Amino acid sequence: MATQKLLCNLSLIFLLFFHFHYGTCELQLNYYSQTCPNAEEIVKEQVISLYHKHGNTAVSWLRTLFHDCMVQSCDASLLLESINGIQSEKISTRNMGMRNFKYINTIKDALESSCPMTVSCADILALSARDGAVMLGGPRVEMKTGRKDSKVSHLAEIDASLPNHNDSMMYVLARFQSVGIDVEGTVALLGAHSVGRVHCLNIVDRLYPTVDPTMDPNYAKYLMGRCPHPNPDPTVVEYARSDRESPMILDNMYYKNLMKNKGLLTVDQELLSNPITSPYVEKMAADNAYFHEQFSKALLILSENNPITGDDGEVRTDCRFVNRD
Ligand code: HEM
Repeated sequence: MATQKLLCNLSLIFLLFFHFHYGTCELQLNYYSQTCPNAEEIVKEQVISLYHKHGNTAVSWLRTLFHDCMVQSCDASLLLESINGIQSEKISTRNMGMRNFKYINTIKDALESSCPMTVSCADILALSARDGAVMLGGPRVEMKTGRKDSKVSHLAEIDASLPNHNDSMMYVLARFQSVGIDVEGTVALLGAHSVGRVHCLNIVDRLYPTVDPTMDPNYAKYLMGRCPHPNPDPTVVEYARSDRESPMILDNMYYKNLMKNKGLLTVDQELLSNPITSPYVEKMAADNAYFHEQFSKALLILSENNPITGDDGEVRTDCRFVNRD
């Protein structure tokens, strides 16, 4: 860490001397090159091994990064449990259905045994999302590291930060814009819904008492088969897939489905009905490489939202708890 700091300070002096933009002694490529040279390799190995045991872990890492970074900062605040005055972000209704948190501890344990107290949980979230995307056939994103972990939960800020499944597209675009992601990037990031599942609770409003008239009738039939109750029991795991053809592949099938009015959430289908976003839906439906390119750019911006760096925050030893002094 001392070497890291020295390098950091030297580069700041250099930047100041040459009147470069100051203040980027923050995230860096290979931040752990001196302190834990295998850090990124260890995360990758763990992500791959977890994927082979539970494929849906890779899906989770994408959603987890979004729900952590969109609320204040990419600072792993989402991982904190309710204890010692902390109220966990996990109890928010916006975080309903999130899964596989326990496997983040598996990744953290592997890092702790090679490099104790060195690699932050916030960096684990970023790198695991990056490597998870690759396991799902998505693009590989070159990510910087050096994020620190927060000592507080941001539970109170969640509702105002994370868009809801039935929010208007204008609101959604404004939220993403506030973290530096433009319209094209927002359309691309929602392509993450090409993988994974949605619980019936988040779908029934489009099915009962009457089916949303914008929905393809055959798709509605499938959804009503998956979600037969207008008031689903939240304790029962009832869900549907957005992309039935390739639910474990991060591809442009999501956009092709939107074009056929087979969007799962209101927010998904709105991407096509809104004239500001629809041209990008059409482009992404037609070109998977373009989707991947835009997805990479936007995921990178998301992963760098307002990180805690330098001497602020801490590197938690257990991602679920703030360190004891
Ligand atoms: C307007 C923005 C968004 C809204 C309103 C939204 C909402 C939702 C909802 C309601 C679910 C279903 C949860 C459940 O019932 O289990 C979901 C699932 C998911 N979301 Fe989003 N989401 C948004 C953007 C994103 C972004 C930007 C990403 C990642 C880059 C993402 C990744 C995922 C993934 C991977 C799943 C499936 C999770 C699983 O199967 O465990 N979402 N989202």
